[in-house]
Amino acid sequence: MLVTGATGRIGRAVIDLLTDAGVPVRALVRRSDSGATLPTHVEIVTGDLTVPESLDAALHAISTVFLVWTAPPQTAAAVVDRLAAHTRRVVYLSAPHRTPHPFFQQPNPMAALHAEIERLIATTGLDSTIIRPGMFASNALLWWAAAIRGEGVVRWPYGAAETAPVDDRDLAAVVARTLYEDGHAGGDYVLTGPESLSQAEQVSIIGDAVGRSITFEDLPPDEFRRETPEASRPAVDMLLAAWNATMGQPAYVTSTVSDILGTPPRTFRQWAADHATAFTEGPHPTN
Ligand SMILES: NC(=O)c1ccc[n+]([C@@H]2O[C@H](COP(=O)([O-])OP(=O)(O)OC[C@H]3O[C@@H](n4cnc5c(N)ncnc54)[C@H](OP(=O)(O)O)[C@@H]3O)[C@@H](O)[C@H]2O)c1
Repeated sequence: MLVTGATGRIGRAVIDLLTDAGVPVRALVRRSDSGATLPTHVEIVTGDLTVPESLDAALHAISTVFLVWTAPPQTAAAVVDRLAAHTRRVVYLSAPHRTPHPFFQQPNPMAALHAEIERLIATTGLDSTIIRPGMFASNALLWWAAAIRGEGVVRWPYGAAETAPVDDRDLAAVVARTLYEDGHAGGDYVLTGPESLSQAEQVSIIGDAVGRSITFEDLPPDEFRRETPEASRPAVDMLLAAWNATMGQPAYVTSTVSDILGTPPRTFRQWAADHATAFTEGPHPTN
């Protein structure tokens, strides 16, 4: 099996789960030095999704690919063609853009790209499994850890907007299952955490985990947008639209994690407890 996004949040965890299950794994990395963070028995091959011909060595003698796409869209068709030429099955990390809940129904470039890659995969005739996670629990690290480590004041928009964060470990476990277990060809799985929580509640839960009261200050969306670096604007606009659209209603919650794994999904409280040190140790905000 070939795991792309091998250095990323989900791909890295999938590699560990596949090797634990005794599945031979090859990891795709962009730079050979990135492979240093992977287990020594994993075969590492360099390649770049923006350079489709660079993938041929990685795809040699591979039957199944876990595809993570964070690259620009231009080379998606050529890459999917190459997957179809070399392999039989793809598990694609997409998003719930087909789910009829306002949070997931705001038009945005990432949803359009996921839809296009799914369309490309479908036209090749490859066996496919589409994994559609909602919000990753680990986004909390990217968004709030620096502020919590600093003054303990999170200034953030739409505090009342509810999401159901899925623990990255549950997401990776589902991906690994669909890779090594029979019966998932044609599967289309929307994954969420077990409960709907407002963003302010999520911050409060992290406060409980670190043993400190964290202040949540609702930030006007325009101010949040102005404070965002230019490069992050598309992602920020996507999030602002989704939070705005979901105000006043609970998050969409599925039972897919327990249906596939046979164990309940981890709660956000459990995720926060297991990652508490990341909110107490490390760099503080610079401004
Ligand atoms: N975050 C969420 O809440 C969420 C929710 C639903 C769906 N998703 C989807 O999940 C996917 C993963 O997102 P993420 O932010 O979690 O990713 P991530 O952890 O940042 O991982 C991205 C991975 O892709 C690799 N990569 C980037 N560009 C590449 C290229 N040109 N060629 C080969 N590999 C490349 C990166 O390698 P390097 O180490 O070399 O950079 C890294 O291993 C995205 O498609 C996103 O839309 C995310």
